[in-house]
Amino acid sequence: MSNFQQLRTVRWHLMRFYLGIMVATLGVSFLVVERWVTYDLNQQFNDYLLQLAEAASQTLEIVKHESNEHEEGEYDEDELPEEHYQSNYPKTYPKLADLMAGYDRHGTLAVPKHRLLYYAQGVEWFDEKQKLIIREGDLDVTWSLSDNLERSGNILERNKIRSLVLPVFYTLPKSETERLSGYIRASHVTEMLDIQLERLRWGLIIGGVVAVSLTAWGAIWLTNKSLQPIAQSFERLKQFTADASHELRSPLTVIKSSISVLQSHPERIDPLDKNKVDAIADASYRMTHLVEDLLLLARLDGSVALMSLEKIPLPLDEILEDTIEFARSEAEKKDIDLNFNLDSDIWVLGDGQQLQRVFSNLIDNAVQYTPKGGKVTVSLFVDNETAIIAVEDTGIGIAPEELPHIFERLWRSESARIERREGTGLGMAIAQTLIQVHGGKIDVTSKVGVGSCFWVKLPILRSRGVGGS
Ligand SMILES: Nc1ncnc2c1ncn2[C@@H]1O[C@H](COP(=O)(O)OP(=O)(O)OP(=O)(O)O)[C@@H](O)[C@H]1O
Ligand SMILES: [Mg+2]
Repeated sequence: MSNFQQLRTVRWHLMRFYLGIMVATLGVSFLVVERWVTYDLNQQFNDYLLQLAEAASQTLEIVKHESNEHEEGEYDEDELPEEHYQSNYPKTYPKLADLMAGYDRHGTLAVPKHRLLYYAQGVEWFDEKQKLIIREGDLDVTWSLSDNLERSGNILERNKIRSLVLPVFYTLPKSETERLSGYIRASHVTEMLDIQLERLRWGLIIGGVVAVSLTAWGAIWLTNKSLQPIAQSFERLKQFTADASHELRSPLTVIKSSISVLQSHPERIDPLDKNKVDAIADASYRMTHLVEDLLLLARLDGSVALMSLEKIPLPLDEILEDTIEFARSEAEKKDIDLNFNLDSDIWVLGDGQQLQRVFSNLIDNAVQYTPKGGKVTVSLFVDNETAIIAVEDTGIGIAPEELPHIFERLWRSESARIERREGTGLGMAIAQTLIQVHGGKIDVTSKVGVGSCFWVKLPILRSRGVGGS
């Protein structure tokens, strides 16, 4: 993975991290606010019902008394005007005001009128046998009272109406014992409460969306700000690598050509110096290789360079055959059985030189990291519109914990260092980047002491490939 890809990954992780923390914090805060406000509003609602019921409970004894007289005919119903009866209740329930008119001349005992919104609230007076005496308000509370009611009030909610039933007791003057006098039921529609809660939730959701958007913006800004110095130093490093590699090329070319001139006239070399010349030739070859690799990696880090690869239709089997032939002498030196199994006429769109570089990195590694007398097999076939190139060896293998590092720049395993001292650790990083540029994938499976298999997958060119023209 290149430095820039790593930086992008780190940036993405950091962004997700910031955003995750902020969203979780906001979510928890909003949930707490929502729960708290819902609880508080419900509590206020219940307190209000309790106040209503307590106010009405003051009048229960009097209401019972007046109601008895009413039932016993002390009131002449015909004398009461029609509007003194509530329109939607049976005539047997007179209005509280009329019932109380004779008794409560100062209007202090009845439920305060201004508190009752007739369409939304209701108060009912029950005797001790739970028989309804009168009701105020237009609420349609049809259910009967239950048994075992709590003294402090009993809340019940049905059909968007919440009611509080308050048992009322009075103390007998002499014995100071308490006796159940009856019940008051105060009811209220919950519509307004639901609307308030709905509004609160929408407020929180909209607030949440705005907060998350701002947070996301903040996370992006923070991440970019904190990674800016690293991005700049990567950019400088890339520029330096590119410049240095470029500058090293010309002196290296001079060294290489001078050495090959020297080597082409061995008679001019003092036999004692021959080994030194060979060592210089070998070192300059390796250095050229390293410089080329560094220059290529520096170029591949820039997106413009990615576009500048010249891609043409290529027959993979021919490229692989050539590459295998290059590696053959090295394999024979180690007595390694290098064989291949290539399907023909598989075409891909790519840069021949770069693809050859990838395959030669893979085959060279297989030969280098396989002990004497081992076997390396290169295969090519098509699977599901994809060309698959497999380079399999019976070499030292790669430990599972080392596999994630294989494509990192400059990484080499301990066992690889023992097997082969020289090596830069750039070959696999280059191979991965080049394969990605070709729209393909590279992967590896391996077992320590048994061998490794590197897979390259490339999209085939249908017009000229297998099944094509
Ligand atoms: N076929 C293989 N078998 C075992 N280990 C491998 C094989 N191919 C790659 N590796 C491991 O991956 C590391 C990186 O490989 P890479 O080709 O990038 O570098 P290198 O071979 O060490 O050096 P060079 O830059 O000269 O190729 C190797 O050092 C080795 O540890
Ligand atoms: Mg290598």
